[in-house]
Amino acid sequence: MINNIDDKQYKMIVDYIMKDKEFNKISSSFHHGTDRLTHSIKVSYYSYLITKKLGLDYKTTATAGLLHDFFVTSNDKTFKESASSLFNHAKIAAKNAVDKFEISDKEKNIIETHMFPLTLKPSKFIEGWIVSFVDKGVGIFEFGVKFRYAITLWLIFVFNIMK
Ligand SMILES: [Fe+2]
Ligand SMILES: [Fe+2]
Repeated sequence: MINNIDDKQYKMIVDYIMKDKEFNKISSSFHHGTDRLTHSIKVSYYSYLITKKLGLDYKTTATAGLLHDFFVTSNDKTFKESASSLFNHAKIAAKNAVDKFEISDKEKNIIETHMFPLTLKPSKFIEGWIVSFVDKGVGIFEFGVKFRYAITLWLIFVFNIMK
């Protein structure tokens, strides 16, 4: 995914994270029908583009976006494990990012709050709201691609009963 991005400035900002072996382990976890690394790069890059356009702190956004799901999970989680991960992975990702990269308080806040409103506290920063919003948009799109056949069948069914 990162190789498809032709943006030298973005690549320079996230280079130290992308070169890290431990961080790259997230590519082994399934995530919304893709892998967690691909998902994280999308969230980071789209959030970076939006914040850059708006004259906001795009560097912090790029790094926090890339680290927002920095945790590794097994690919055969139970339903209960998946459900609890929904609520606690943001804190785990923030802790991993602090331990590994000594991130700033702003980056930590963006990561910790990206699951708002599931996790009750929203971000203190506009960049955090943007990462959270982009994460949901990317996630919905990834789910859509994963379940496209089911969605198509469901739409055919709905159109047929409405006829
Ligand atoms: Fe997440
Ligand atoms: Fe995410």
